[in-house]
Amino acid sequence: MIHIAIDGPSGAGKSSLAKGLAARLGINYLDTGALYRTVGYAARERGIRPDDRKAVADMLGSVSVEAAFENGKQMMYLDGKPLGDAIRQHEISSYASAVSAIPEVRAFLLETQRDIARRESVVMDGRDIGTVVLPKADVKIFLTASAEVRAKRRFDELQQKGDKTPYAQILAETKQRDKQDSERTIAPLKQAADAVLLDTSDDTVKQSVDAILAIVRRKLG
Ligand code: DC
Repeated sequence: MIHIAIDGPSGAGKSSLAKGLAARLGINYLDTGALYRTVGYAARERGIRPDDRKAVADMLGSVSVEAAFENGKQMMYLDGKPLGDAIRQHEISSYASAVSAIPEVRAFLLETQRDIARRESVVMDGRDIGTVVLPKADVKIFLTASAEVRAKRRFDELQQKGDKTPYAQILAETKQRDKQDSERTIAPLKQAADAVLLDTSDDTVKQSVDAILAIVRRKLG
Protein backbone atom coordinates (compact mmCIF):
# COMPACT_ATOMS: atom_id res chain seq x y z
CA MET A 1 0.00 0.00 0.00
CA ILE A 2 1.08 3.55 -0.69
CA HIS A 3 0.01 6.52 1.40
CA ILE A 4 0.72 10.04 0.27
CA ALA A 5 0.01 13.06 2.46
CA ILE A 6 -0.41 16.50 0.92
CA ASP A 7 -0.96 19.38 3.31
CA GLY A 8 -1.12 23.11 2.92
CA PRO A 9 -3.37 26.18 3.11
CA SER A 10 -6.49 26.56 0.99
CA GLY A 11 -5.83 27.53 -2.61
CA ALA A 12 -2.30 26.15 -2.71
CA GLY A 13 -3.51 23.71 -5.38
CA LYS A 14 -3.73 20.63 -3.16
CA SER A 15 -6.89 19.15 -4.60
CA SER A 16 -6.05 19.41 -8.30
CA LEU A 17 -2.51 18.17 -7.70
CA ALA A 18 -3.57 15.36 -5.36
CA LYS A 19 -6.26 14.30 -7.82
CA GLY A 20 -3.78 14.31 -10.73
CA LEU A 21 -1.23 12.38 -8.70
CA ALA A 22 -3.77 9.77 -7.55
CA ALA A 23 -4.90 9.26 -11.16
CA ARG A 24 -1.28 8.75 -12.27
CA LEU A 25 -0.72 6.22 -9.49
CA GLY A 26 -4.08 4.52 -10.07
CA ILE A 27 -5.21 4.99 -6.47
CA ASN A 28 -8.03 6.96 -4.81
CA TYR A 29 -7.82 10.54 -3.66
CA LEU A 30 -9.42 11.58 -0.37
CA ASP A 31 -10.17 15.26 0.07
CA THR A 32 -10.31 15.49 3.87
CA GLY A 33 -11.52 19.10 3.76
CA ALA A 34 -14.80 17.65 2.44
CA LEU A 35 -15.25 15.82 5.76
CA TYR A 36 -14.92 19.08 7.72
CA ARG A 37 -17.19 20.78 5.20
CA THR A 38 -19.81 18.08 5.80
CA VAL A 39 -19.69 18.69 9.56
CA GLY A 40 -19.89 22.46 8.91
CA TYR A 41 -22.85 21.87 6.61
CA ALA A 42 -24.60 19.79 9.26
CA ALA A 43 -24.11 22.58 11.81
CA ARG A 44 -25.54 25.20 9.47
CA GLU A 45 -28.50 22.98 8.57
CA ARG A 46 -29.31 22.68 12.27
CA GLY A 47 -28.84 26.38 13.00
CA ILE A 48 -25.82 25.70 15.22
CA ARG A 49 -23.09 28.33 15.42
CA PRO A 50 -19.90 26.66 14.16
CA ASP A 51 -17.82 28.10 17.00
CA ASP A 52 -20.20 26.84 19.70
CA ARG A 53 -18.03 23.94 20.87
CA LYS A 54 -20.63 22.33 23.10
CA ALA A 55 -23.46 22.48 20.58
CA VAL A 56 -21.24 21.17 17.75
CA ALA A 57 -19.82 18.40 19.96
CA ASP A 58 -23.34 17.38 21.02
CA MET A 59 -24.44 17.32 17.40
CA LEU A 60 -21.76 14.74 16.57
CA GLY A 61 -23.62 12.13 18.61
CA SER A 62 -26.51 12.26 16.20
CA VAL A 63 -24.91 12.66 12.75
CA SER A 64 -23.27 10.17 10.42
CA VAL A 65 -20.56 11.43 8.06
CA GLU A 66 -19.33 9.04 5.41
CA ALA A 67 -17.01 9.28 2.42
CA ALA A 68 -17.38 6.77 -0.41
CA PHE A 69 -15.53 6.41 -3.71
CA GLU A 70 -17.85 5.98 -6.64
CA ASN A 71 -16.06 5.41 -9.97
CA GLY A 72 -12.98 6.89 -8.35
CA LYS A 73 -14.86 10.03 -7.33
CA GLN A 74 -15.35 10.92 -3.68
CA MET A 75 -18.93 11.35 -2.53
CA MET A 76 -19.90 12.72 0.86
CA TYR A 77 -22.91 11.41 2.73
CA LEU A 78 -24.58 13.10 5.68
CA ASP A 79 -26.98 10.84 7.54
CA GLY A 80 -27.00 8.55 4.53
CA LYS A 81 -27.93 11.31 2.06
CA PRO A 82 -25.50 12.36 -0.72
CA LEU A 83 -24.47 16.02 -0.47
CA GLY A 84 -23.09 16.68 -3.93
CA ASP A 85 -21.68 20.16 -4.40
CA ALA A 86 -23.67 21.72 -1.55
CA ILE A 87 -20.57 21.57 0.68
CA ARG A 88 -18.64 23.68 -1.84
CA GLN A 89 -20.75 26.80 -1.22
CA HIS A 90 -18.67 29.77 -0.27
CA GLU A 91 -20.41 30.14 3.10
CA ILE A 92 -19.59 26.55 4.08
CA SER A 93 -15.85 27.36 3.93
CA SER A 94 -15.99 29.45 7.08
CA TYR A 95 -18.28 26.94 8.80
CA ALA A 96 -15.77 24.19 7.97
CA SER A 97 -12.84 26.24 9.21
CA ALA A 98 -14.60 27.03 12.51
CA VAL A 99 -15.76 23.47 13.26
CA SER A 100 -12.33 22.10 12.35
CA ALA A 101 -10.86 23.93 15.38
CA ILE A 102 -13.08 21.91 17.74
CA PRO A 103 -11.20 18.94 19.27
CA GLU A 104 -14.30 16.70 19.31
CA VAL A 105 -14.75 17.26 15.57
CA ARG A 106 -11.13 16.32 14.84
CA ALA A 107 -11.37 13.18 16.97
CA PHE A 108 -14.67 12.29 15.28
CA LEU A 109 -13.13 12.52 11.78
CA LEU A 110 -9.72 11.04 12.60
CA GLU A 111 -10.96 7.45 12.60
CA THR A 112 -12.90 7.95 9.37
CA GLN A 113 -9.67 9.05 7.69
CA ARG A 114 -7.50 6.31 9.20
CA ASP A 115 -10.07 3.63 8.34
CA ILE A 116 -9.80 4.54 4.68
CA ALA A 117 -5.99 4.43 4.84
CA ARG A 118 -6.10 1.02 6.53
CA ARG A 119 -8.20 -0.33 3.69
CA GLU A 120 -6.40 1.06 0.66
CA SER A 121 -3.61 3.06 -0.94
CA VAL A 122 -4.62 6.68 -1.04
CA VAL A 123 -3.47 10.24 -1.68
CA MET A 124 -4.97 12.38 1.10
CA ASP A 125 -4.92 16.13 1.27
CA GLY A 126 -5.71 18.41 4.17
CA ARG A 127 -3.96 20.33 6.92
CA ASP A 128 -2.75 17.66 9.36
CA ILE A 129 -2.37 14.54 7.22
CA GLY A 130 1.43 14.33 7.48
CA THR A 131 1.52 15.48 11.11
CA VAL A 132 -1.47 13.72 12.72
CA VAL A 133 -3.58 11.51 10.46
CA LEU A 134 -0.85 9.56 8.62
CA PRO A 135 2.40 10.29 10.45
CA LYS A 136 3.96 7.27 8.71
CA ALA A 137 2.89 8.24 5.17
CA ASP A 138 5.33 7.10 2.47
CA VAL A 139 5.54 10.58 0.98
CA LYS A 140 4.65 13.92 2.59
CA ILE A 141 4.37 17.12 0.65
CA PHE A 142 3.62 20.57 2.02
CA LEU A 143 2.19 22.74 -0.72
CA THR A 144 2.10 26.47 -0.42
CA ALA A 145 1.65 29.69 -2.43
CA SER A 146 1.33 33.34 -1.47
CA ALA A 147 -2.04 34.48 -0.03
CA GLU A 148 -2.49 36.80 -3.05
CA VAL A 149 -1.96 34.01 -5.58
CA ARG A 150 -4.29 31.70 -3.67
CA ALA A 151 -7.01 34.36 -3.37
CA LYS A 152 -6.75 35.10 -7.11
CA ARG A 153 -7.16 31.40 -7.95
CA ARG A 154 -10.24 31.21 -5.74
CA PHE A 155 -11.59 34.44 -7.24
CA ASP A 156 -11.22 33.07 -10.80
CA GLU A 157 -12.90 29.83 -9.78
CA LEU A 158 -15.87 31.65 -8.23
CA GLN A 159 -16.22 34.02 -11.20
CA GLN A 160 -16.52 31.01 -13.49
CA LYS A 161 -19.40 29.80 -11.36
CA GLY A 162 -21.05 33.22 -11.59
CA ASP A 163 -20.22 34.13 -7.97
CA LYS A 164 -19.35 37.84 -7.86
CA THR A 165 -17.58 37.96 -4.48
CA PRO A 166 -14.94 40.71 -4.85
CA TYR A 167 -11.23 39.82 -4.84
CA ALA A 168 -10.52 42.04 -1.80
CA GLN A 169 -13.07 40.11 0.25
CA ILE A 170 -11.65 36.77 -0.85
CA LEU A 171 -8.12 37.88 0.02
CA ALA A 172 -9.24 39.03 3.47
CA GLU A 173 -11.07 35.73 4.04
CA THR A 174 -8.06 33.75 2.82
CA LYS A 175 -5.84 35.50 5.36
CA GLN A 176 -8.44 35.04 8.09
CA ARG A 177 -8.71 31.30 7.37
CA ASP A 178 -4.91 30.92 7.28
CA LYS A 179 -4.75 32.53 10.69
CA GLN A 180 -7.59 30.41 12.06
CA ASP A 181 -6.18 27.16 10.62
CA SER A 182 -2.58 27.73 11.69
CA GLU A 183 -3.14 29.28 15.10
CA ARG A 184 -5.63 26.78 16.47
CA THR A 185 -4.23 24.78 19.35
CA ILE A 186 -5.24 21.38 18.01
CA ALA A 187 -3.65 19.94 14.84
CA PRO A 188 -2.74 23.34 13.39
CA LEU A 189 -1.71 23.71 9.78
CA LYS A 190 2.04 23.16 9.79
CA GLN A 191 4.67 21.43 7.75
CA ALA A 192 5.72 17.99 9.06
CA ALA A 193 9.46 17.77 9.78
CA ASP A 194 9.84 15.12 7.05
CA ALA A 195 7.63 16.81 4.44
CA VAL A 196 8.98 18.24 1.20
CA LEU A 197 8.03 21.90 0.71
CA LEU A 198 6.68 22.91 -2.69
CA ASP A 199 5.75 26.54 -3.44
CA THR A 200 3.38 26.73 -6.44
CA SER A 201 3.05 30.55 -6.60
CA ASP A 202 4.84 30.93 -9.93
CA ASP A 203 3.98 27.54 -11.44
CA THR A 204 1.37 26.44 -13.92
CA VAL A 205 -0.65 23.38 -12.91
CA LYS A 206 1.42 21.28 -15.33
CA GLN A 207 4.68 22.45 -13.73
CA SER A 208 3.34 21.69 -10.25
CA VAL A 209 2.19 18.20 -11.28
CA ASP A 210 5.62 17.49 -12.74
CA ALA A 211 7.30 18.77 -9.58
CA ILE A 212 5.09 16.63 -7.38
CA LEU A 213 5.67 13.52 -9.52
CA ALA A 214 9.42 14.10 -9.28
CA ILE A 215 9.18 14.24 -5.47
CA VAL A 216 7.10 11.04 -5.35
CA ARG A 217 9.45 9.20 -7.72
CA ARG A 218 12.45 10.26 -5.67
CA LYS A 219 10.82 9.08 -2.44
CA LEU A 220 9.32 5.84 -3.71
CA GLY A 221 12.15 5.00 -6.06
O1 DC B 1 -9.53 22.16 2.15
P1 DC B 1 -10.82 22.86 2.45
O2 DC B 1 -10.76 24.33 2.24
O3 DC B 1 -11.99 22.22 1.77
O4 DC B 1 -11.03 22.63 4.02
C1 DC B 1 -12.10 23.19 4.73
C2 DC B 1 -11.66 23.52 6.15
O5 DC B 1 -11.41 22.31 6.86
C3 DC B 1 -10.39 24.35 6.25
O6 DC B 1 -10.66 25.66 6.69
C4 DC B 1 -9.52 23.67 7.28
C5 DC B 1 -10.24 22.42 7.64
N1 DC B 1 -9.43 21.22 7.45
C6 DC B 1 -8.68 20.77 8.52
O7 DC B 1 -8.67 21.42 9.55
N2 DC B 1 -7.97 19.63 8.43
C7 DC B 1 -7.95 18.92 7.29
N3 DC B 1 -7.25 17.79 7.23
C8 DC B 1 -8.69 19.38 6.17
C9 DC B 1 -9.42 20.55 6.27
